[in-house]
Amino acid sequence: MGVEVWVPATTANLGPGFDCLGAALDFGNRFRFALRGAGEPVEVVGADLPADNLAYRAFALVYERLGQPVPPVTLTLELEVPLARGLGSSATAIVAGVLAAHRLLGEPLPETELLNWAVALEGHPDNVVPAWRGGCCLVCGVHVCSIPWHPDILPVLAIPEFTLSTAAARAVLPEQVPYHDAVTNLGALGCLLQGLKRGDPALLRQGLQDRLHQPYRRRLIPGYDQVEQAALAAGAYGVVISGAGPTLLALAAPAQATAVATAMAQAWQEVGVQATARVTRVSDKGAQVKS
Ligand code: HSE
Repeated sequence: MGVEVWVPATTANLGPGFDCLGAALDFGNRFRFALRGAGEPVEVVGADLPADNLAYRAFALVYERLGQPVPPVTLTLELEVPLARGLGSSATAIVAGVLAAHRLLGEPLPETELLNWAVALEGHPDNVVPAWRGGCCLVCGVHVCSIPWHPDILPVLAIPEFTLSTAAARAVLPEQVPYHDAVTNLGALGCLLQGLKRGDPALLRQGLQDRLHQPYRRRLIPGYDQVEQAALAAGAYGVVISGAGPTLLALAAPAQATAVATAMAQAWQEVGVQATARVTRVSDKGAQVKS
């Protein structure tokens, strides 16, 4: 008996939407949980991960909370989302584990309760929620708003070879921010939501500004300034850090997207960082569970 879950990659924050805005992308990770006999060890196939990996810990959490013994599994992984690059790989694991266990237990709980467990495990909602539901999501307390995304706005990812842990990228954030910076972000987030809906370049340019996390994190990403400049010169609306980084995300019109991707990868190479760039899409497809 088993269950398979596919979960999309996500890009969180999108500049000013720190810890509250994220979007599902058109590629993802597949996790197959096949139950093993009691007493057998957990087996992981397809990636070099320990038995107590995040997907299995999320899976176990649901069994434990429902008072059931946690069964061993063979966990088979097909991973397309690079690890520790700011593209929601940990959210894919958490969502997959929670949804797989819930399906195997006969789906006794309301979705919102499970989603809350998944968010609590991750610590912030802006990858987990769009990974689960698909599309672009704004999360505020218990509310999830689906944010319209104009089809002519393409996310362009420049993914460097080096990794950056979310913990390290959160450790550089200050306890407090200047009042003016907080106010700037409020306006930018409003502009961004309108810009995403209308596909309006001027609103997007203004709306992709952030003062809450990027000023502190950009120094953790060698080549940030060069890659940003290259993307803007190639016609991007703006460049932000994808999630906690180090991937950089540009938003661009379809006519410019390929040139923006090439320019970003080249700029990184010129400062000695190998990077791959890809043009993606925001996808309405959230996590898919198959028994
Ligand atoms: N909002 C989170 C952060 C996303 O920026 O730290 C990390 O996955």
